[in-house]
Amino acid sequence: MMNPVIYVTRKIPEEVLQPYQNMFNFRMWDKEDVPVPRDVLLKEAATADGVLCLLTENIDREFFDYAKNLKIVANMAVGFDNIDVEAAREHGVVVTNTPDVLTETTADLTFALLMATARRIVEAADYIREDKWQYWAPYLLAGSDVHGKTIGIVGMGRIGEAVARRARGFGMSILYHNRSRQEKAEQELGAVYSDFTDLLQKADFVVSLVPLTEQTAKMFDRDAFNNMKSSAIFINVSRGGTVDEEALYDALAANEIQAAGLDVFANEPISSEHQLLELDNVVCLPHIGSASEATRTKMLELCLDNLKAVLNGEEAITPVK
Ligand code: DGY
Repeated sequence: MMNPVIYVTRKIPEEVLQPYQNMFNFRMWDKEDVPVPRDVLLKEAATADGVLCLLTENIDREFFDYAKNLKIVANMAVGFDNIDVEAAREHGVVVTNTPDVLTETTADLTFALLMATARRIVEAADYIREDKWQYWAPYLLAGSDVHGKTIGIVGMGRIGEAVARRARGFGMSILYHNRSRQEKAEQELGAVYSDFTDLLQKADFVVSLVPLTEQTAKMFDRDAFNNMKSSAIFINVSRGGTVDEEALYDALAANEIQAAGLDVFANEPISSEHQLLELDNVVCLPHIGSASEATRTKMLELCLDNLKAVLNGEEAITPVK
């Protein structure tokens, strides 16, 4: 019998695929940094049993209509807003994501962005590179403290809890807002449940970790920024679509909030022309939340293990429900 055909939508290292070579017939888009063109994706999907895709692919109803043999789409991300899960269900295709393996790495990056923004790390490093450092001065590049402040975590899932653990180490008070109460985080981390507006009004750092859904789209809007303290720092490591970027720009430009640290944007990739990059009080990163070498490899392995399970007739390890 022929091995199942797996289409991998980006060039990934041979060593990662190697342990699966004898069970799958891999086909792969041959570029590492450029997404597969739509027409190629649809053509490949038409004959694949499984697809390993990235968040750059729009896995919509049209895709599923083409994919006649498809049994599983393994998304190399914990977020799955790039996938029409309803259409997948109707077509009998299992969708999987990569929770857990990226939790700590993404929490590290969240905290790095929070600290970089509060302590103006990027501006300060550029200050030397641009040869501006002449003398030490009392308030030269003075930023905000992190220790002892209040963090407001919006979206208290696994990554939110991991961020809360780091915040605890910095002696921060922890507020959170979530669809449901998280008793474990309350008991073990001292996190205090708060309604959204209350959190915005009280937090020194507002951290967005909510998945992008119809309910969370642009939830950080003009009202949300108006509700924040003028000293507040906004951090987004979830999806750019949770933020009204015009409203964020206006709030930052008018110093209605102090700064923002952003790993994600409404339309990625952004260029150096993006309006938010005009501002000094913004640190922007190219969606690298889970980007440690070890974690990216674990994410790929989890995708491959999900493909293996489903194509062997077993339950997926991390199905999207
Ligand atoms: C995810 O997993 O959803 C991230 O955005 C990429 O790691």
